[in-house]
Order: sequence, then C-alpha cells, then structure tokens
Amino acid sequence: MRITENSNPIIEPYIPVADFYVGKSIFITGGTGFLGKVLTEKLLYSCPDIGNIYLLVRDKKNVSAQERAKGYFDTQWIKQMLREKPSPINVATLRRACKEYLLQRPCDHQPKALLFDRLNKERPENLRKIKFISGDLTQANLGLSSKTLKTLLEEISVVFHLAATIKFNEPLSIAMKINVEGTNEVLKLCQNMKRIQVFVYMSTIFSNTNHERTMIEEKLYPVPMPLDEVYSMIQDGDENDVFSPELLVTPAIEEPVKGWITNWMGSTPVLYLLGKGWCRCVTGRGENILEIIPIDYVVNLTVAATARYTRSDEIPIYHSCTSSSNPLTLKETGEFFTKECRRQGFHDLPLSGVLFTTSPLVLAIMRFIFEVVPAYIADFLLLIMRKPVRYVDLQKKVAIAASATEYFRTKIWLMKAKRTEALFNSLNSKDQSIFPFNPSSINWEQYMAIYLHGIRKFLLKEKNYE
Ligand SMILES: NC(=O)c1ccc[n+]([C@@H]2O[C@H](COP(=O)([O-])OP(=O)(O)OC[C@H]3O[C@@H](n4cnc5c(N)ncnc54)[C@H](OP(=O)(O)O)[C@@H]3O)[C@@H](O)[C@H]2O)c1
Repeated sequence: MRITENSNPIIEPYIPVADFYVGKSIFITGGTGFLGKVLTEKLLYSCPDIGNIYLLVRDKKNVSAQERAKGYFDTQWIKQMLREKPSPINVATLRRACKEYLLQRPCDHQPKALLFDRLNKERPENLRKIKFISGDLTQANLGLSSKTLKTLLEEISVVFHLAATIKFNEPLSIAMKINVEGTNEVLKLCQNMKRIQVFVYMSTIFSNTNHERTMIEEKLYPVPMPLDEVYSMIQDGDENDVFSPELLVTPAIEEPVKGWITNWMGSTPVLYLLGKGWCRCVTGRGENILEIIPIDYVVNLTVAATARYTRSDEIPIYHSCTSSSNPLTLKETGEFFTKECRRQGFHDLPLSGVLFTTSPLVLAIMRFIFEVVPAYIADFLLLIMRKPVRYVDLQKKVAIAASATEYFRTKIWLMKAKRTEALFNSLNSKDQSIFPFNPSSINWEQYMAIYLHGIRKFLLKEKNYE
C-alpha cells in the first residue's frame, strides 16, 4: 500500500515472487556446490518462466569443466542406464546421450538424480535452461571465452555469486585468490552487464562473529583487517588458518527432497558420531545455542529477497538463522538426535546421551572413560574375530571433528533477522508456502529425524534404507 499526496491509499497489486524472474537470465557461480545446486533446482522448479541459467563450472582434479558438467545431474543417471540396458548401450552411446542432453537437443534419456527428480517429472523442459559455461574465479574475466562473455554481458539480469572456498584450513593466499579476488572479477563483469538488476553475494553469518560481539545484526560490519595487511601477511609467509568451519546449513527440511545433504561439513560428523555412541562428551555448555538452518530455507530466502530488491544506497543484508526466533540448544540437539538414533536402532554402543563440560580436565577424563576405553575394547573384539580394527582410529577422527567446531560451541552469539522476518511477513500466503523460510515454524525434534534420514540416505547411502 502507498499513500498519495492527498492521503488516499493506493493498493498496489501484489507481485508474486516468481513473476520477477519471468524471462530473466541468471548467472550462478558455485552452482556445482551444496547451496548452488539446490538454488538452481528451486529457480527452475518454482519460477517456471525464468530465462536461461548459466552455471560456471571449472576444471577440477584433471577433469575438464565439460566432463564435470556431464555429471551434474548425478552419475546415477548413467549408472542406472547401464544397469537397465546393458547390451545396446555402450560408453559412446552414453556420451552421445549426455552431449545431446547438454546441447539442449531432444533426447530420449532423462536424468535420474534425486535432486532434479521433481523437475524432471513435472517440468523436464526447464532442465534444458541450464547452460554450463567453463571458467574459474581465479582467472581474469573468470577465464570465459569471448563468445560466452558476450552472451553474459548481453543477457544476464541477475547474478548469484556463491562460489567460494569454505575449507577452514585453506591457506590464506588461496582463500584470498578465490574469495576476495574472484569476487572482484565477478563484480567487474557485472559492471558491464547491460541488463543487470541484482547482484547477490552469499556469505556466512559467521564471518561477522568475533570475541567481542554477542549480537550480529543484518548490516555490513567493518573488515577485521585492511586488505594490504592481509597481503603483507601472505608475503611474509605468515599464513595461519583463518577460516571458520561452515556450521550453518544443514539438510533440506522439505525441498527438493527431504533430508537432502551432500557433505560432511559443520555439525554433521559430530552429530553422526554422537548418534552412533562413539562420541559422548562435548566441550561447551548444554544451554549454548547451535545456529543451524535447513538449506531450503536459505535458498528460499535468497530467491525471495532477490525478487524484492529495490535500488538504494544501502546494501540489504538478510540473515538466514534461527537463534533469535527459534533457538535450539546444544543439549536439545544432542537429545533429539540421539533419541532418534536409538528409535531407529542406528547406534553402535548401548550407552548414548551427551555429556557437556567446559573443563578440559573433566573432558579428558570423560573422554577416556566413555570414548577411548570402549574404542579399545571394540577393536580388541574385532581383532579376536580377525576383522580389521577401526574404532581407535575413528576416535581420533572424532576428536578432530569435535575440535574443528569447538570455538562455535563454546561461544554464544545472537543472530538478528529483522529484515528477513519483515520480508517473510510481506509475502502473501501462497508465496509463503512456495518459498518457506520462517524458522519459527521448525519443529526441531522432527527436524533431527529428517537430519538423520539425510545422513543415512544421502551420505551413508545405506542399502535397504529408504
Ligand atoms: N554450507 C554452509 O553451511 C554455508 C552456510 C552459510 C553460507 N554459506 C556460503 O555459501 C557459499 C557456498 O557454500 P556451499 O556450502 O555451497 O559451498 P561448496 O559446496 O563448497 O561449493 C563451493 C562452490 O564454489 C565453487 N568454486 C570454488 N572455487 C572456485 C573457483 N576457483 N572457480 C569457480 N568455482 C569455484 C565450487 O566449485 P567446484 O565444484 O568446482 O569445487 C562450488 O561450486 C559460500 O560462500 C559459503 O560461505 C555456506
């Protein structure tokens, strides 16, 4: 609603989120990553009249970008085809099928990846809007060919910049090259795009956490150190591990597939080992808050916030988080998760439950009794049964995984999300149900069951588990 000069309210028509994307072409960096894939799927599924989506794919580990693009829809598609039609299909046929598919020519074979299943069933033509382009953030002009560059400069209306290295132990020089200089290259490109309307940068809320702050608001904070100082640290060879592990985004609560998860980052390894019973003691206070959010909520917020962007001098920042509206404590996380593991008979050790302490001495004693001794006993039994030992080794991995996230478990920050809440409240009920991102609706106990389902189905790929 708008108020005119003569105080008469004008009711402006509601514009659905999907309408913003009609006919608009999109450029996504990081589209091969955890968040990028879900974002790509959601745009194609829920904004059906979107234009083309250009995905930047780099050469990696001696595999060319083109080859990697072929596997984008999950190699299961190829494996499945091999299983189903062993005789008439050979590698050359498969390659041809992939190529036809990627060249957006009609093709009989359809991808069978879970992530793209609903799109494949309901709107397969939209899969053809994905255009893979070869490039790398670390190169000038992202290493794009002149033809691709021209297409992007002519066509693109929205850029989602998600590509980054999020390894917490990445050397600073590499992190700077990809995350800072790479972002600069993307921005330079955007400046020359004729139709650009929105540039979206995906970062992590934890980049603003430090020892002094207790509350993080949706605003730009000053950088902790000037860039030239960072570069002189690199030149001096003073590269300490500066990264914080990603803790935030956890399996999809609902879309595109319940429990969708693709990596063992953040809290997942510790939760898994807690559930199995191999990790029982955690540094931190049980009442501390664990800041996690389902990946689909992050993606929905991103899609909606982009559609509602209006030009201004301020850079709007949106937080996708739960601590201020629906806090989940460490104690609840452990309880809900281990309870579900017990219910499903997923645990290895009969003892379960989580013990919290902030004392290093108490932790060492508890670990020895509840983790180290059972691991040695289990390995001893395996040895007697002439099976390969594994549990002492696993124990060491538990300790590493637990220490990687320790800083975040022992500190408390309140993440504010007023802008995000206002955006959600401004959507009509239809858009709220197409793009849910209101964290107060999450039932954490149910979500922990979905989390475990995601681990079993998508990470462990357990046989006979559905
Ligand atoms: N996951 C989380 O918990 C979380 C939470 C909050 C915010 N975020 C932010 O969201 C963004 C994406 O996170 P994610 O979890 O999706 O990470 P991810 O799964 O590790 O994906 C990173 C993406 O960046 C691409 N990339 C890295 N270096 C590149 C380069 N030199 N050139 C081109 N592409 C490059 C990767 O491509 P390859 O496939 O070639 O490696 C991949 O597509 C990050 O900025 C992260 O900080 C993540």
